[in-house]
Amino acid sequence: MKKILVTGGVGFIGSHVTISLLEKNYNVVIADSFLNSSKSFYIRMIELINSINPLLKKNISFYEGDIRNSYFLEKIFIDAKKEDNCIEGVIHLAGLKAVKESVKHPLNYWDCNLIGAIRLLNAMKKFNCHSLIFSSSATIYGKNQNLLIQENSDINPINPYGFTKATIEFMLHNLFESDLQKWRIANLRYFNPIGAHNSGLIGENPKGVPNNVFPLINKVASREIKKLKIFGNDWNTKDGTCIRDFIHIMDLAEGHILALEYLLKMKNSKFLNLNLGTGNPTSVLELVETFQNINNVKVSYDFANRREGDVERLVADNKLAKETLNWEPKRKISDMCIDGWKWHLNNKNFC
Ligand SMILES: NC(=O)c1ccc[n+]([C@@H]2O[C@H](COP(=O)([O-])OP(=O)(O)OC[C@H]3O[C@@H](n4cnc5c(N)ncnc54)[C@H](O)[C@@H]3O)[C@@H](O)[C@H]2O)c1
Repeated sequence: MKKILVTGGVGFIGSHVTISLLEKNYNVVIADSFLNSSKSFYIRMIELINSINPLLKKNISFYEGDIRNSYFLEKIFIDAKKEDNCIEGVIHLAGLKAVKESVKHPLNYWDCNLIGAIRLLNAMKKFNCHSLIFSSSATIYGKNQNLLIQENSDINPINPYGFTKATIEFMLHNLFESDLQKWRIANLRYFNPIGAHNSGLIGENPKGVPNNVFPLINKVASREIKKLKIFGNDWNTKDGTCIRDFIHIMDLAEGHILALEYLLKMKNSKFLNLNLGTGNPTSVLELVETFQNINNVKVSYDFANRREGDVERLVADNKLAKETLNWEPKRKISDMCIDGWKWHLNNKNFC
């Protein structure tokens, strides 16, 4: 059974990726510091695994710690080696992700995201593990005029968070070129993952006030927050609000498994950039309206001024990911709204 390290495996994306990996018969080792997650959420993951198949529990292990600590990371690789089941690949998700916070505290972002990646790559190199999936972001494209953004579009981030992601991609390319026989690397550029596992047992559970629109919609619908602020109704779009490419978290997770399998099957080295999005444009207002209609709840909102760092439109050309991985995002905006709301209702008082 192949052993995969998932950094940030208790986070929103990591938890769903972990469940998908276990279901595909991988052995998963998680490294997470709980910087933006919690022990109780990890317990929820175990509950979900138990409900899928109790036998899968033996295929998951957890290390609490910060990936910037080389000793911590190396211990994970050493333990795996001792068990005669070395780590064959890494899905690297640990990092900070809030655009607004990155503008205020850029050093925290450079420290966590860049140093974390460097320490991880050094450990991988030391232990002969050369297959990596990196959690990149559509944010690296910045202001892009194209209707659908292709992977070869300009990399032009407009905030510190985006710069850290773009820099890690460049660093990975340097590493790839330093030894053309070895590395198999896929930068997955996520668009806007939302929704939750349809069990309602896991979902997005950020600490503090959420930064993204979907957790905010949930909190307004459940009256924990009075009103949603929609930033700008004067964008050059059909209803004046920003256009995004929302993708169901389980479709995103499945993209990771296919990308990992693709890399692990490769005989030669490989460097890939892939957009993970649906290619379907949805405005923020359309998302709010679908959420209200499908869940039969009210989401009060106000329009506010445009927010610094926002772009008008961000929609993926996902042809390359579909062709390369034989991947197809299947779930609709309504599924994202139903599953996300189910998770939120089950977990309103969860911490
Ligand atoms: N969610 C999105 O919309 C989105 C979009 C594009 C890219 N990404 C990237 O995907 C990755 C995962 O995103 P997410 O939404 O699951 O975020 P998240 O905050 O829910 O999960 C990140 C996890 O990493 C852990 N972590 C953070 N820094 C760590 C460190 N130094 N050492 C160990 N653990 C650490 C946190 O505790 C958390 O459990 C991030 O790198 C993010 O930048 C996310």
